[in-house]
Amino acid sequence: MQTENGNLRLAVQKSGRLTENSLNLLKNCNLDIEKFNDRLVVNIKNYKLDLLFLRDDDIPEYVQDGVAELGIVGEDVIKETKSDVKIIKKLGFGKCSLRIAIPENAELKNLSDLNGKRIATSFPNILKDFLSNNKIEAKVVNISGSVEAAPSLGIADYICDLVSTGNTLKLNKLKASINVLESEAVLIKNKDLKLNLDKYKIYLNLLARIESVLNAKNSKYLMMNVPHDSLEEVLKLIPSLKSPTVLPLADKNILAVHAVIPSEKFWEIVDYLKSAGASGILLLSIENIVL
Ligand code: PRP
Ligand code: ZN
Repeated sequence: MQTENGNLRLAVQKSGRLTENSLNLLKNCNLDIEKFNDRLVVNIKNYKLDLLFLRDDDIPEYVQDGVAELGIVGEDVIKETKSDVKIIKKLGFGKCSLRIAIPENAELKNLSDLNGKRIATSFPNILKDFLSNNKIEAKVVNISGSVEAAPSLGIADYICDLVSTGNTLKLNKLKASINVLESEAVLIKNKDLKLNLDKYKIYLNLLARIESVLNAKNSKYLMMNVPHDSLEEVLKLIPSLKSPTVLPLADKNILAVHAVIPSEKFWEIVDYLKSAGASGILLLSIENIVL
């Protein structure tokens, strides 16, 4: 579908688990997103991009059909709708698993205990594939919303639903059991994407911005002062992405060392850095990294 204003179109979840993180990712790409309230299409003020706010379940099909060229959605929904779209990149948020969940007081020891049971889900395709791959004969009860209420209403024995924090299950006196699928948010595109040169440039630029935000999220900027004699030992400890920067200070005996490190490494090395003589250790967030 050709848009009137020539803007690229990106579909995002209207309201749900992925909405806030999807919009934050785009804001960190320096896109000026105004409040969307109930609008379906929102133009980005400072970029040739329109956001399409949709139910997450509809996003893969809209992208497959070319209504939007790009989308941000969970892998679970892509698999369930069996949509033919291309996954460009995992986005590192919206992590959850599709699990069989059972009443708190029930026991499920083996997969075969599912035989003969009724399982309510809004993921009938994934669940049916899972059951048939494991040669289980169970009845799949297809429900589109509030699946977690099914056991207490007596319409199913168990459920198969997404679990993130586990709060929804707990509130409904259910517990997670067998894991059916792991999922996270991904950026997808239409498979036969044909863009004119202008749109193609925006597409590449947007991918580069997203890439740089994702790189930055996993990295931190480490700064510290190091006595001359300790430099060698300190440099050995730093798991730097590139060679660290070493700068002279007014005090000739001390050097400033700066490095970009993987965020999760900091607490592993900080005590060793101190014992090696480093002081004034600072760890800063990074907004963007263009490698
Ligand atoms: C899923 C699922 C549960 C909730 C679980 O809904 O259906 O309701 O998330 O999360 P929790 O373990 O953190 O409580 P989702 O956000 O995908 O909304 P949808 O059902 O409208 O797609
Ligand atoms: Zn959904």
